[in-house]
Amino acid sequence: MTVEAPARHFYFGSNFKMHKTLAEDRAFIQTLLDLNASQFDLQLFIIPAFTSLGGLQDTPRPRNLWIGAQNMHWANSGAFTGEISALMLRSIGVDLIMLGHAERRHNFGETDIELNKKAISAAASQLRVLLCVGETAEQRRYGVTDEVLAMQLKIALSGYPADCLERLMVAYEPVWAIGAGSQEALPEDIAPSIDQIRHTLETLFGQDRALHIPVLYGGSVNRDNCGGYVQHATVDGLFVGRAAWQPEGFMEVMQTGYNAWKRKRGGN
Ligand code: PGA
Repeated sequence: MTVEAPARHFYFGSNFKMHKTLAEDRAFIQTLLDLNASQFDLQLFIIPAFTSLGGLQDTPRPRNLWIGAQNMHWANSGAFTGEISALMLRSIGVDLIMLGHAERRHNFGETDIELNKKAISAAASQLRVLLCVGETAEQRRYGVTDEVLAMQLKIALSGYPADCLERLMVAYEPVWAIGAGSQEALPEDIAPSIDQIRHTLETLFGQDRALHIPVLYGGSVNRDNCGGYVQHATVDGLFVGRAAWQPEGFMEVMQTGYNAWKRKRGGN
């Protein structure tokens, strides 16, 4: 059976990590409004610190901007001091949860099995999930990138409900390409990994459903290299750190990437 490729949409977002106060996040969003970010026919998102999430809900924002959270616990409530649940995030209108960022996995010991519990809990609370996967430099050297990606996806998405797949996105972020001082990935470096991610999603959910799941690339994305990453036929967007932490940079990388993505698809 041949499955027709779905009409693809472009996604562009930034994880602010442990940066910016509520006032700074509000100023960021105001600048996006001033720069008319909502004129673009694409989905934007930002993922600020927990302390901003409540205050941003009544801040005017571009209609195409989702606000996400950087982490959550899998239980709805309980004796988990310092944790926040999917239910709490939904109760203040958060749209999206990022799960499995490399800094959570490698600095805070987050495991695939914990991520699975979080993904299921997020789905039950109707949160959009952005699941981050990626191999370390060492795993890459040993030639086990495909295995690592398959394992991360298969465990984290085990039992993920089919009727929540329209709220799932995956970000491929090779750990060796994230953050200051890292190595920049080449488009040809990422292509086999994107293919492996698509292949694993097909194994999990079937070809048709897998094709509809947006797969984004992240890791040292900037104005100069973003056009290369979107040349891959099934890269649906970009997930950016440092280069998008100022609203002007956010807009510049977004527009450059989006234009390259549209050109690749034969648009203008
Ligand atoms: P970077 O961060 O773009 O600054 O490398 C990416 C990330 O951590 O998701």
